[in-house]
Amino acid sequence: RRFLAGLATTAAAVAGATGIALPRGSAAAATRLPLPELLVPTLRDGVLVFPLRAAFGTHEVLPGVTGRSAGFNGSYLGPTIRVSDGQRVRFEVANGLDEDLAVHWHGAHVPPEDDGGVHSAIAPGQSWNPEFTVKQQAATLWYHPHTMGRTARQISWGLAGMLIVDDAASASASASSGLPGEYGIDDIPVIVQSVAVDRRGAIKYDSDGFAARDVSFPLLVNGVAVDRDPPTFTATRGRVRLLNASLSEVLAVRRTDRRPLVQVATESALLPSPTEVDAVRLPAGCRAEVVADVATDGITLEAAVRTTVGRNRDSRQPLLRVLPGPERAKLRPLPSWLNTISRYDVSGLRPRVITLTERGGLLGIDGVSGTTMSAMDRNVIEVRKDELELWEVVNRSPRDHSFHVHDVPFQLVSVNGVAPRGVDLGWRDTVEVRRGATVRIAMRFTDYASDTYLYMLHCHMAEHEDLGMMTSLKVRPA
Ligand code: C2O
Ligand code: CU
Repeated sequence: RRFLAGLATTAAAVAGATGIALPRGSAAAATRLPLPELLVPTLRDGVLVFPLRAAFGTHEVLPGVTGRSAGFNGSYLGPTIRVSDGQRVRFEVANGLDEDLAVHWHGAHVPPEDDGGVHSAIAPGQSWNPEFTVKQQAATLWYHPHTMGRTARQISWGLAGMLIVDDAASASASASSGLPGEYGIDDIPVIVQSVAVDRRGAIKYDSDGFAARDVSFPLLVNGVAVDRDPPTFTATRGRVRLLNASLSEVLAVRRTDRRPLVQVATESALLPSPTEVDAVRLPAGCRAEVVADVATDGITLEAAVRTTVGRNRDSRQPLLRVLPGPERAKLRPLPSWLNTISRYDVSGLRPRVITLTERGGLLGIDGVSGTTMSAMDRNVIEVRKDELELWEVVNRSPRDHSFHVHDVPFQLVSVNGVAPRGVDLGWRDTVEVRRGATVRIAMRFTDYASDTYLYMLHCHMAEHEDLGMMTSLKVRPA
């Protein structure tokens, strides 16, 4: 804390010395929220082609403290990719790092060979060009490294970006009603990362085994460290797309004035209707969309950050301040209907039990620690295309986890026997499974099957995944 405060003072002193006039009061250090650029594709034979190149760079992680980083098409984070249901898309992913890299489209419903799990590593200097047709509901997804044993460190360098999917329903909700959808105008990407940084600006992750006294733990919002003054964004009505791109921290986002937030989407789809929540809980890897109508004073979002990996640390930090735009009068009400979610009927289904295990310090799934390809082959979860699946995820390890399944979204069926309510009825691809908890989920693997290529399932706390809480998932033909 002292370390951060010292830096802020230095930054202000430097600004003063160079003659930049800073307004007085708490707005002095507030910066405008930087926005990741929208990646403009080229059209080639009816296919939208998106180039992505991962490379090292440097990034000012804290004011005045610059360290080594990595990014896609830049030195930190990556551009936002926006696609629509039904479009044919191709990603041309080049690996400009000096080690293997796999890039995964988190939350995307794609054939297994295009999914970008550990099975699709790209060697340094090589590229990988998955091509598929977007086939899913409007949602806020993301892309990030998924390299065997190296996911945590590669994400921590800054390799992450947002992937927005639109569909006909979301487009018409935006056009005909008050659901904001203009990227960077009223549709705001907010990538939150809780990171560990040493005094020289080097980004650390837990497997580095750092000593907590040598690092500070800033919260980065779109790559900018937030201390007391959150970055600002101006929108009379803002649709905030929240992505927790932290390695393992759980975030609870709320308004500082304690008024409810209006949530419109969970991770994988719009909710049936705008739903008031006190806080949006985001385990690592999760997303949510909220809509905020901004009154004269603006509103501030803050995050309670909970860390359990390697260190136990709780903090509360401001995230973002949305300031009112000029045309307050013209707001149309939010649509009361956003989506229809029909619930899976799982009565009569016997659940498939998947156990999160930890033995002698080895994290695993069903007792197998998936730290190598051959280990992942020892516990392949096999399902059949188009069959309704009921999974019971049991946490038998002495710590919390965050369970993620590739390819299709799932519905929560119960948490410790209790049926979900409210926003927990929404589609998602990651769910927190706390210590000792039993969580039931239901899903159906549609469209794609293969006896050769594999998807994955794992804990999305990136360090846990690297330590082996991960295995392969095979969708066999019907
Ligand atoms: Cu976000 Cu298997 O990943
Ligand atoms: Cu975990």
